[in-house]
Amino acid sequence: MDIKGKKFTVVGGAGLIGSHTVEELLKEDVAEVTVFDNFTRGSEENLENVINDPRLKIYSLGANIMHPDHLDAAFKGVDGVFHFAALWLLQCYEFPRSAFDVNMAGTFNILEAIINNGVKKLVFSSSASVYGDAIREPMDEDHPYNNQNFYGATKIAGEHMCRSLYKRHQNSEKHFDFVGLRYFNVYGPRQDYHGAYIAVIMKILDQLEKGISPTIYGDGSQAYDFIYVGDCAKANIAAMKSEATDEFFNVCTGQQTSILELAKKLLDMTGSDLELSFQEADQMFVKNRIGCPQKAKEMMSFEASMKLDEGLKKLIEWRNSHKEAVDRRRNSAKG
Ligand SMILES: NC(=O)c1ccc[n+]([C@@H]2O[C@H](COP(=O)([O-])OP(=O)(O)OC[C@H]3O[C@@H](n4cnc5c(N)ncnc54)[C@H](O)[C@@H]3O)[C@@H](O)[C@H]2O)c1
Repeated sequence: MDIKGKKFTVVGGAGLIGSHTVEELLKEDVAEVTVFDNFTRGSEENLENVINDPRLKIYSLGANIMHPDHLDAAFKGVDGVFHFAALWLLQCYEFPRSAFDVNMAGTFNILEAIINNGVKKLVFSSSASVYGDAIREPMDEDHPYNNQNFYGATKIAGEHMCRSLYKRHQNSEKHFDFVGLRYFNVYGPRQDYHGAYIAVIMKILDQLEKGISPTIYGDGSQAYDFIYVGDCAKANIAAMKSEATDEFFNVCTGQQTSILELAKKLLDMTGSDLELSFQEADQMFVKNRIGCPQKAKEMMSFEASMKLDEGLKKLIEWRNSHKEAVDRRRNSAKG
């Protein structure tokens, strides 16, 4: 889609990836960007860099993806929708009924509102969780759905709802295009303490600030493909602009970093001489993840550009300049 002069609604646009995507979208010559978010996890503060842009609107009538009439109102005259709203992995584990409602029924509500309002394209946030533990590496988009948790189940359902409703309306006036993005382990400014794999970065930085030896759960050999949040935002814009439809793409770097390597990097970057302390892991999810970035590069010209050291530096800078926001995130994770 040529996004010039077009109107977009960003569902979940006040959250981590959503707020970075809103910023990225407003760097383009678009007509209007409406954030549709119930602020359960996101915040207006996340939009501080763009809040004065006259093209930015915040849907303030009680935005909730559980309310189809609000979605219907928010999608009127809109060309493209980005959908980020979801309950996170550990919340889906604890509260599968709520996860079913928000991640599955909520996504269905969005699809229905897209179809009813003639929205031309959806970029859906899926997840590398659909793959579960690696059967082969690197994981390309044809890797089997080896997922075993409820969060992943909701993302697989989301992918299939997009695909099946796309197919159903493919040759009618209700046609819409869609792309699903399978982000790997997303980190960067504005992240919080809820991420099952990523919160470790914030916790290590907290311990280093307090002069406490950082805790590593297990032996630290669990290794992931860490992708900078700004790169995820760029992937969203690339997906909306591209001609690709009915496709799923990894959003990853193709580089793997173990938790041990990550912790050592953080020690180095903060100039700390503390020793790491190892504790038995009480809860383990996927231990090994590395994505293949090839398809996204070939079909939508997207390639992650942020190096891990540079991205971590940006996260540390953000923590230092947003101490109250970090405190709020820390407290909310305790509560
Ligand atoms: N962050 C990651 O590492 C990661 C990895 C893979 C996939 N994803 C997926 O990417 C998407 C965005 O992730 P994120 O980390 O930015 O999440 P996030 O929680 O920061 O953002 C989601 C936003 O949706 C809003 N929201 C939640 N429920 C809502 C509802 N019922 N109605 C309206 N708004 C609602 C929240 O307030 C929040 O601002 C999610 O779908 C997530 O599952 C994230």
